[in-house]
Amino acid sequence: MKADRPIGVFDSGIGGLTVIHALRRLLPQEDLVYLGDTARLPYGTKSHRTIERYTLQMGELLQRCEPKLIVIACNTASAHGLPALQAVSPCPVIGVIEPGAEAAAEQPGPVGIIGTLATVSSGAYEAAIRRHDPAKVIHSVACPLLVPLAEEGWFDDPVTDSICRRYLNQLPFEAKTVVLGCTHYPTLLASLDRCRPGTRWIDSGLVTAKAVDRLLQGSISYRTASARGELRVQLTDASSRLKEVGNRFLEEPLGDVEVVEI
Ligand code: DGL
Repeated sequence: MKADRPIGVFDSGIGGLTVIHALRRLLPQEDLVYLGDTARLPYGTKSHRTIERYTLQMGELLQRCEPKLIVIACNTASAHGLPALQAVSPCPVIGVIEPGAEAAAEQPGPVGIIGTLATVSSGAYEAAIRRHDPAKVIHSVACPLLVPLAEEGWFDDPVTDSICRRYLNQLPFEAKTVVLGCTHYPTLLASLDRCRPGTRWIDSGLVTAKAVDRLLQGSISYRTASARGELRVQLTDASSRLKEVGNRFLEEPLGDVEVVEI
């Protein structure tokens, strides 16, 4: 039955496990297949054409498990590859930008966006927010050093605080809502919040999990069994360090990892 097929989730690496964490909490009965392109990460420093090509390849690889829905957990791949994958995929595809943008547009006043270089330079968040609110004032800051800090596990560290402060100080004081426009940033929330207390942080992964729930309520349907769903993790390259970092992002043991050839 189509409803019992897994949801395919892909990311440039293991950061998208923060989105898996959100999906497992909200939709524990769903089977999930996670595909991380660890052989080619990061995507955030690459060009539009390359990111779009990688996104199409990841979408094709996920088709092997016949997903009922594909979630692009990676903000960078959502910014550059979503329309191309939607155009060829046999199943529906959603990215993290639209749900994050919708949540940001609902908040009063100017909003800030933080993300990778490629996400910020795409202007995808701005375009998506302005579809909901054409007059919205938006300030975007690329924060390339935050991905390595999160992977290093420096979640509670003065170095992370000082780098977060340097980036966040580029946002005007009036931007009281800031979108965490990168898979890794939810793990740095304590540090980010210390640097900008009182901010309303929008976790794009969390709001995407809610968007998936809405889609399942509609035509795609929930899995019929009520037992906890399975999580299958596939990576294009698996080093021991990635497993260690993955556990942190998922907030539960990663379990067995399958390596798939691109
Ligand atoms: N997954 C990417 C994102 O959410 C961050 C890591 C990368 O640059 O590949 O934008």
